[in-house]
This record gives sequence, C-alpha cells and structure tokens, in this order.
Amino acid sequence: MTTHPRDRASLTARAVALGRAVGRGDLRDGLAERALPRLVRPAVRGLRAAAGLPGGRAAVAVALGGLNVHAALRMHAVDAEVERAVHDGIGQVVVVGAGFDTRAWRMEALHGTHVVEVDRPATQRRKQATMADVAPLADVEFVAADLAEDSLLMALAPTAWDRHRPTLWVWEAVVPYLDDLAVRSTATGLAELSAPGSRLVMTFAHPVGGGGVAGALVDSGARLAFEVLGEPLRSAYDDWDITALLTEAGFHDPVVTGSREWARTVGQDAPRLIFAAERLVTAVRR
Ligand SMILES: C[S@@+](CC[C@H](N)C(=O)[O-])C[C@H]1O[C@@H](n2cnc3c(N)ncnc32)[C@H](O)[C@@H]1O
Repeated sequence: MTTHPRDRASLTARAVALGRAVGRGDLRDGLAERALPRLVRPAVRGLRAAAGLPGGRAAVAVALGGLNVHAALRMHAVDAEVERAVHDGIGQVVVVGAGFDTRAWRMEALHGTHVVEVDRPATQRRKQATMADVAPLADVEFVAADLAEDSLLMALAPTAWDRHRPTLWVWEAVVPYLDDLAVRSTATGLAELSAPGSRLVMTFAHPVGGGGVAGALVDSGARLAFEVLGEPLRSAYDDWDITALLTEAGFHDPVVTGSREWARTVGQDAPRLIFAAERLVTAVRR
C-alpha cells in the first residue's frame, strides 16, 4: 500500500530545510538539519565542509541545483521582514504552511511574541516531534489545517491569536502548491482576519521556463519533479498579477523583490538558477 502524500510530512518542506541547513556561507539555519532523516545529516555536514574548500561553494550550489543558495537568501529576506514587523510593534505572527520553519526557535527578535504555525496534520506532527527538545524563543502554538479545505478562522479559533491585534502573516513557499482559487480565497481570508496595521510576507513563483523550446523543457521538468514529490505546482503569477490579486483581496502597498535584491542586501552575487522564479511580496492592511 502506498502512502498518500497528505499522510506523510511534506517533502518540499524537507527539501527547503535541506537547503537552509546547507546554506551559503554564514547564511544558514542551524536548526534545519533536525527536519532531515538522521542518515542524511552527515551528508549535509559534508556539503557544508565542501563549500568551504576552494571552488567548493560553486560545486555545492551546482550539486543542489541552487536550492541551498535560494533557500538561504529567501530565509534571510523573510527574517528581515519579520524583524522589521516586530520592531514596528507587531506582536503576533501566523506562519501559514509553516513546514519546518524554525524562526520561533532561532530568531531573538521573536522573543516574547506569539507565533502560530499552520500546516497539514502530518507535517505538523513531524514538526512538533522535530522541535520537541528545543526551547522556543516565542510562545508557539501549532494548528493542523488544510488550507484547500479548511477555514483559517476556524483553524485559528482555539488559539490565543487575537484578531483585534495586528498580525504578521508569513506565507512562504506555499502559494505555488495551491490552485488559483485557494490562493485568492486564502489571501482574502488573511485580509479579512487582519486588524489594521497587519502585514503580509509571502512568496510566489513566476511561470518557470521563460518561453521557447528550452523554456518549455525547463517548465515540464520542474512540474514533473514536484509531481513526483506528491506536491504538484498549481499556480504561477507575474509581479503585476500578484499585485492585483493582493489589492483585490484587501491588502495595500505591495512591494515585490527577488533573489537579485536579496543577494545584494547581503553583499552576495545573485544566483541564476531555476529557483530564481520565486519572488517575495510584502503588503499591509490599513
Ligand atoms: C515548500 S514547503 C514550505 C515550508 C515553509 N514555509 C518553509 O519555507 O520552509 C510548503 C509547505 O506548505 C504546506 N502546504 C501546502 N499545501 C497546503 C495546504 N493546502 N494546507 C496547509 N499547508 C499546505 C506543506 O505541507 C508544506 O509544509
């Protein structure tokens, strides 16, 4: 009997954790390795050591298809938005499709805040087991919900999340796995649940490939890879579309960035690999 993808912890969430665990230089997540099977952990350390050798950094990036570079830069870009929001007085964070996000355990800025992590039940169970022996810096609650079927309001109802206070919504690396209807209804739901001053930090993906025969091959290759992982790609937007979608949902002032900007912020060169299709958008609720 085969296991339905929904009955096991998300493989894409583990893949992202692998990318963050290897990281790029100082940009890495020291807790991400916990999300990986024990057998894989020595290989992660080997890759990190190899990246420190002459020419090793580029070789490791190529071996991982750029996943480590992209995941590390994205992590840093989202961390910066989280820090900014907390600095500006937002005291509650809801991580939508949290996977193996480790911010509540590693970000000093979240000390004293309330963090709610939402994901499907199987991933939530694995996540809780993974972090069971690490003390969180924030006050963390876990919610099991399938955003394609469940209402976020109902899911958050039993938690200490307070809809009358501003919320930072972190919706990182989830949108491509939802169809357009689920993306729109979730975005509208987030806006409706947002007290004035709330913020949204989310990533989405441009259509991959970029046109032509080569583009079509890259596109079908990427689709096939995610199908095999049991988490098919279901939506893609260009910057204009996502801006319009969020505005329609009720958010304001959307700002879109990509890996080129994230790399520049930390003085690194921009990756030009397949993950460059993923973008970050921030928006506010007035
Ligand atoms: C690529 S992972 C990203 C995890 C995490 N945000 C990160 O950046 O490390 C995608 C996550 O979205 C979650 N997800 C996808 N579809 C979902 C749905 N319909 N409801 C709840 N979570 C979902 C998956 O379980 C998975 O943990």
